[in-house]
Amino acid sequence: VLELGAGTGRATAFLARSAARVVAFDLSLEMVAIARRKLAGQSHVTLFVADLRDLALDDRFDLRFELRFDLRFDLVVAVDDPFSHLTGDDDRARAFAAAARHLAPGGRFLLDAAWLSPRAREKAAGPEGLVRERATGKGPGGEGLVVRQVWRCDPESRVCTARFEYRIGNRTAEEASFPARLWSLGELRRRARANGLAITALWGGYDRRPWMRSTSSRLIAELRAGR
Ligand SMILES: C[S@@+](CC[C@H](N)C(=O)[O-])C[C@H]1O[C@@H](n2cnc3c(N)ncnc32)[C@H](O)[C@@H]1O
Repeated sequence: VLELGAGTGRATAFLARSAARVVAFDLSLEMVAIARRKLAGQSHVTLFVADLRDLALDDRFDLRFELRFDLRFDLVVAVDDPFSHLTGDDDRARAFAAAARHLAPGGRFLLDAAWLSPRAREKAAGPEGLVRERATGKGPGGEGLVVRQVWRCDPESRVCTARFEYRIGNRTAEEASFPARLWSLGELRRRARANGLAITALWGGYDRRPWMRSTSSRLIAELRAGR
């Protein structure tokens, strides 16, 4: 398995339970350091820092003859959309092509695409933005931690500004905002076609519920390389 934008190794740990080999990377050195600690001692897992846009993995198999073999994977996964951080067309094209290039014949590419339903997108285009708030366990002192997200998106380009606020009790502990670009089905189809991939399934969640354009809160696409 090749995992793109693995972050702190949240999904890597899950994949490592059943895959013979997991190769995972992220752009952030800090995140890779956390993932390495989390997966220490798992010799079938390789973690490194790389940029998705320039990924080119090869195995130097025979050093005497300097033969290079490109590394190809049965499964390429992108959990919680690392592509969303690439807002420019050229960056997205390069990153998508890199994912496609690393697929073995018949291999699958699972893209957990940043996606909002039409209603959510309408809200995100409105004056208040799309607000999502959820309690996620405990803060460092055992108090409740609440994460409040505000998404403001341009309906045409689907480029958004996402603001995350981490609240512990009445206090804002951290705030961060970043640009993110949502996928449309049209963009997904276009990039699949350009890279010789076929979209073989669309799910609305990791429980494999079917994707519904008007109600699904996420879009998980399975793409396959031709043989
Ligand atoms: C929303 S996080 C998801 C992390 C992880 N997949 C998970 O589900 O926990 C997106 C990740 O993409 C990474 N990322 C963003 N741009 C990247 C790039 N150009 N190359 C590699 N990773 C990138 C970020 O550093 C971040 O860890």
